[in-house]
Amino acid sequence: MAKIIDGKKIASEMLSEVFMEVKALKEKGIEPCLAVIIVGDDPASKVYVKNKKADCGLVGIRSLEFSLPADTTQKELVDLVKKLNNDRSVHGILCQSPIPKHLDEKEVINTISPEKDVDAFHPVNVGHIMIGDGAFLPCTPTGVMEMLRHEGISAEGKRCVVIGRSNIVGKPMSLLLLAQNGTVTICHSKTKNLPEITRDADILVCAAGVRNLVTADMVKEGAVVIDVSMNRNDEGKLCGDVDFAEVEKVAGYITPVPGGVGPMTRAILMKNTLTAVKNLTKQN
Ligand code: GUN
Repeated sequence: MAKIIDGKKIASEMLSEVFMEVKALKEKGIEPCLAVIIVGDDPASKVYVKNKKADCGLVGIRSLEFSLPADTTQKELVDLVKKLNNDRSVHGILCQSPIPKHLDEKEVINTISPEKDVDAFHPVNVGHIMIGDGAFLPCTPTGVMEMLRHEGISAEGKRCVVIGRSNIVGKPMSLLLLAQNGTVTICHSKTKNLPEITRDADILVCAAGVRNLVTADMVKEGAVVIDVSMNRNDEGKLCGDVDFAEVEKVAGYITPVPGGVGPMTRAILMKNTLTAVKNLTKQN
């Protein structure tokens, strides 16, 4: 039976550390502040934003929510980002994805000041991730690396397989595993013979957003299986890409959904906000 990696517990330890650092900044008269923009009524996005605000509350970061109607214009959205860029009391800015189809998300991300881009989505920060010298950490992939580190697992020399090639997870995840000297394969919807590739993985990261995509026969005995996805099953319950009940019997380590990668992503966002504050206020 696999060891279950408890993301909730690891994240809560990280949040305690952030809380202490925020406290120290406040004692110096600096109040960290994260601005979160949400456009429209996507129910999942609303939950994510609510959780991010709750995390801010836990660690003592001031949070500002800008909840804009679905018919917001591109100019209104871009103008809001520019206003927040120029507001010295705001240290971090994020726009919850997805935004309504009539809006140009790329332009919105490109408008966020790279120094306040706590999601690390701006091309400047993506470039830094590629080189490996960035200030901001890509939240979900770094959360995964933290989970591995916590369990004493290194990617060095390991066969790492990432399913999914999104800009938010798959691509940066591959770069972080590579930076740790893993041998990385990226799979996606056009990949042929997926099971053949995944069976080779010592570390398998699943971020496809397809429920029950990864079954026990696709997993090597003792492998580390990280499930990043948040899907809903027929009863409306949260689930990942991995058939947890069956894969748990084969894997060496496994992450649950919920309570796995999700809380780690959120904790890294708080860390990134702290980094933004330190860089903008020249604290160390
Ligand atoms: N939508 C899904 N994940 C994320 C994330 O990490 N950041 C933002 N801004 N939107 C998301």
